[in-house]
Amino acid sequence: MDTVALQSRRIVSGMRPTGKLHLGHYHGVLKNWIKLQHEFDCFFFVADWHALTTHYEDSHVIEESVWEMVIDWIAAGIEPSAVSLFLQSKVPEHAELHLLLSMITPLSWLERVPTYKDQQEKLKEKDLSTYGFLGYPLLQSADILIYRAGQVPVGEDQVVHVELTREVARRFNHIYGREKDFEQKAEAAIKKMGKKNAKLYNLLRKSYQEQGDTEALETARALLKSQQNLALGDTERLFGYLEGGGKVILPEPKALLTPAPKMPGLDGQKMSKSYGNTISLREPEQSLTEKIKKMPTDTNRVRRTDPGDPDRCPVWQLHEVYATEDQKQWVQQGCRSAGIGCLDCKGPLIDAIAAELRPIRQRAEELSSHPEDIRRIIEDGNEAAREVAQDTLGEVRAAMGLSYK
Ligand code: TRP
Ligand code: SF4
Repeated sequence: MDTVALQSRRIVSGMRPTGKLHLGHYHGVLKNWIKLQHEFDCFFFVADWHALTTHYEDSHVIEESVWEMVIDWIAAGIEPSAVSLFLQSKVPEHAELHLLLSMITPLSWLERVPTYKDQQEKLKEKDLSTYGFLGYPLLQSADILIYRAGQVPVGEDQVVHVELTREVARRFNHIYGREKDFEQKAEAAIKKMGKKNAKLYNLLRKSYQEQGDTEALETARALLKSQQNLALGDTERLFGYLEGGGKVILPEPKALLTPAPKMPGLDGQKMSKSYGNTISLREPEQSLTEKIKKMPTDTNRVRRTDPGDPDRCPVWQLHEVYATEDQKQWVQQGCRSAGIGCLDCKGPLIDAIAAELRPIRQRAEELSSHPEDIRRIIEDGNEAAREVAQDTLGEVRAAMGLSYK
């Protein structure tokens, strides 16, 4: 059964504060956030607890990176007035939901998340055979479900975590969405929509349940979303009732992938701190220039007169991100005919990246001189996030039988 996220206007995403942000973060996730911030109700947060799962032995890195990361976000174009920016550990509801979800999550689901073994392999120097690290993706599920987010903008490597979130939500709804008098409550809720809409809902529901008409399902969902005067609980019931299930307490979110291609690093592998191939968002121009000049090129171009092949060159991969069509042609032609040298080829790349980073670096400098503004932005965000999180947690507790009076 597929349940849609009710609050499809709501978006949640987080980043781990484990060091400086680089162009990989910018092109992979941040640009997407910036694009979404005016279209959706966005909750973006610093995932400091997630950082602890891998950096528990050097947690000072986290402390140092938290505020710098928020500065980078804003410098890159996130507008604090348009979104809620907050700190994960300041919204303890994430932790309570994580605990509650842990009760119903089979161990095997966590053990088979591919990032679990991959990261342990990749970060061999760290002991990641901890309880916290195994629970990493479930904590992420709690981050998402506590806001009942419809979509989660993430890089490709995180899609499996969103998939797990969907499974956990489905299991939760399956176990706790079955109220004793569910059918009566659902029927009563239908009446509240008014005669015309109630009739339409019943018709569409029948079409879907009896003939598997998925178009009818979509239309019915849209109908429910447009109902202004239904209480949230009733809407959730009717979403579940539509598909023959119980109440949808935690809607299933969808991953929202960045359209951008993978951001290559200085060596042609994916840009990542652990490969030491990054350009930081605040890279000074001089070190940017040096880094690009030092980049390896097609190894067959030993002498300037040797023709090269851009497909064998990491510089070309960066041109694919930054160059105009004309420049790309110039590179292709000049490289293959040995008409240009590698340093010539790197010139426009350096210019393009420098132009992209200049305003970001300047804004970051300004922001750094007003740390109290950054703290206030985060405090406001913490409060806004907690309000939503407390609502969800209230419903979750009630559904699980934990709302003692
Ligand atoms: N795991 C994510 C990453 O490493 C960060 C993250 C934590 C996150 N919680 C989240 C992303 C919730 C999206 C939604 O990039
Ligand atoms: Fe790479 Fe450009 Fe040199 Fe060709 S000319 S090998 S694309 S740096």
